[in-house]
Amino acid sequence: MAEIRVDNKITLRTIAPADARPVFELIDSSRERFHWIPTLAGIESVEEESLWIDDSLANDDASNGYLIIFGGQIAGGIGHGPPEPNGDVNVGYWIASEFEGRGIVTRSAAILVDRLFDSGAATRARIRAGKDNTRSRAVAERLGFSLVDGPLETMELANGPIEMVSYSMLATDWPGAEKAARRR
Ligand SMILES: CC(C)(COP(=O)(O)OP(=O)(O)OC[C@H]1O[C@@H](n2cnc3c(N)ncnc32)[C@H](O)[C@@H]1OP(=O)(O)O)[C@@H](O)C(=O)NCCC(=O)NCCS
Repeated sequence: MAEIRVDNKITLRTIAPADARPVFELIDSSRERFHWIPTLAGIESVEEESLWIDDSLANDDASNGYLIIFGGQIAGGIGHGPPEPNGDVNVGYWIASEFEGRGIVTRSAAILVDRLFDSGAATRARIRAGKDNTRSRAVAERLGFSLVDGPLETMELANGPIEMVSYSMLATDWPGAEKAARRR
């Protein structure tokens, strides 16, 4: 099990099979807010969450998923995909409703991006969000990511396709986790 300390209240720790039930219960308790993440929204039982965890642990593609632990409780999830051939890595996150609005995701994402750049695993971090997913876009903007110009991609959600925006941060422009997550 790997752990990344974010600050004295927040730790990121790799997901384990024993997390299936508490994570499922967290998702299930506020399922409607996860419509932005079809892979989460689609999980409808502890068994399905278990399978998802087993699959992601078996997948040796350099992607990484962590639970966000706040004050000892599972609060959400954050992770990144495998590096693309051009050095891009996509970062994604979610937080349960009772932990929303406290800066936990911004601080966690800052540390994760810092790790990605420090380790040389990525030359550019990307955050993709639904065009209308204001809270997700705000995380990228708070961290100083730039909105990428160009045609919008689409993603299929349960009730139809949505437009996606993409934010980008080059390793060479990254000011470090502390500066990036400083409240502006
Ligand atoms: C997107 C999502 C992860 C954002 O979570 P969040 O709690 O808004 O993000 P943060 O933890 O960074 O919190 C930011 C808020 O905390 C406040 N805050 C408090 N202390 C802070 C600190 N030290 N640093 C930064 N922000 C702080 C900010 O001002 C902001 O306040 P606001 O709610 O009034 O705008 C969350 O809404 C979510 O899980 N949504 C459903 C799943 C989803 O859409 N995931 C993204 C898919 S692309």
